[in-house]
Amino acid sequence: MSSGGVAGGRPPRASTARSASAPAGPLGQSASAPVGLPDLGLGGAAVIVTGAGSGIGAATARHLAASGASVVLVGRRRALLKSVADAITADGGQSLCVPADLAVAASPRHVADACLDRFGRIDGLVNNAAVVRHLSLSEWSVGGFDEHVATNIRAPFFLIQAALPALLKSPVKSVVNISSSSGTLHRTGQSVYGMTKCALDYLTQTLAGELAASGVRVNCIAPGPIDTPIHATWATDLAEAYRWLQSQVPLGRIGSPDEVARWIALLLSPVSSFMTGAIIPLDGGQVIDRE
Ligand SMILES: NC(=O)c1ccc[n+]([C@@H]2O[C@H](COP(=O)([O-])OP(=O)(O)OC[C@H]3O[C@@H](n4cnc5c(N)ncnc54)[C@H](OP(=O)(O)O)[C@@H]3O)[C@@H](O)[C@H]2O)c1
Repeated sequence: MSSGGVAGGRPPRASTARSASAPAGPLGQSASAPVGLPDLGLGGAAVIVTGAGSGIGAATARHLAASGASVVLVGRRRALLKSVADAITADGGQSLCVPADLAVAASPRHVADACLDRFGRIDGLVNNAAVVRHLSLSEWSVGGFDEHVATNIRAPFFLIQAALPALLKSPVKSVVNISSSSGTLHRTGQSVYGMTKCALDYLTQTLAGELAASGVRVNCIAPGPIDTPIHATWATDLAEAYRWLQSQVPLGRIGSPDEVARWIALLLSPVSSFMTGAIIPLDGGQVIDRE
């Protein structure tokens, strides 16, 4: 499997050749695992991915589409969504662009309805969209604080709520939230962003417990530094920011979007059918206490 994704190389392409031994997915269809990708059992599934126009979300959308899922691409910038949709189409996959501002309270319902209107089902949800600013206490405004809470916590929560009736009818029934190593590290300047990511970890485990009896799984990936456009939104000197981030990673490098996307797809899929409430650090060892 290649790495690099949006930030670097080309995500794995869906080969037209199918593995002859690929088992049928839980949806009763031949799981369309391309050669070189494990069969995730997502053939025929419909999956919502927020923040799908760039970075980790774009790489995830392409991985899921290459695994046979139809992907609903959510974000504010239509042009970015369209370029991901075009790449999915070129690879032989299916997607639907749903431009939406998730900081608006009505958006989660709108996104779930759009998925149902087009695909008649919701099998999985990837809560990936987020905003990040690194500011000291005195620099925060109510507007900036509220934007972080609305985008990073309220939208994932109400997307799960909006998708739940359809998830309950699915054989996949899976939610993956994307939090951050920032929720564990408590770095100066990351009070608000880190708080929202801690909250997402908390939501993951409380909702995993609440929904377990109905078979809905809720898991979380907590990435460390990954090479995506997000760093340009908080760093004034990007080169210095990358040096600083890399210096914190025991493996000695920044991760790629594809390295996260693979795990999101794996957690979302029935391959992880006995896993719920997991918060997986995917950070090159960044959160290890080395003192
Ligand atoms: N990259 C890292 O080092 C890193 C580390 C830890 C955690 N993460 C997490 O990984 C996830 C993906 O981030 P990324 O690194 O891939 O950065 P990214 O490329 O900037 O992706 C963030 C996405 O969220 C979307 N988004 C932001 N606000 C939105 C809103 N109000 N409504 C709808 N969509 C919105 C953006 O699209 P639009 O602007 O077009 O709306 C963008 O596509 C985030 O949850 C982030 O916190 C990243």
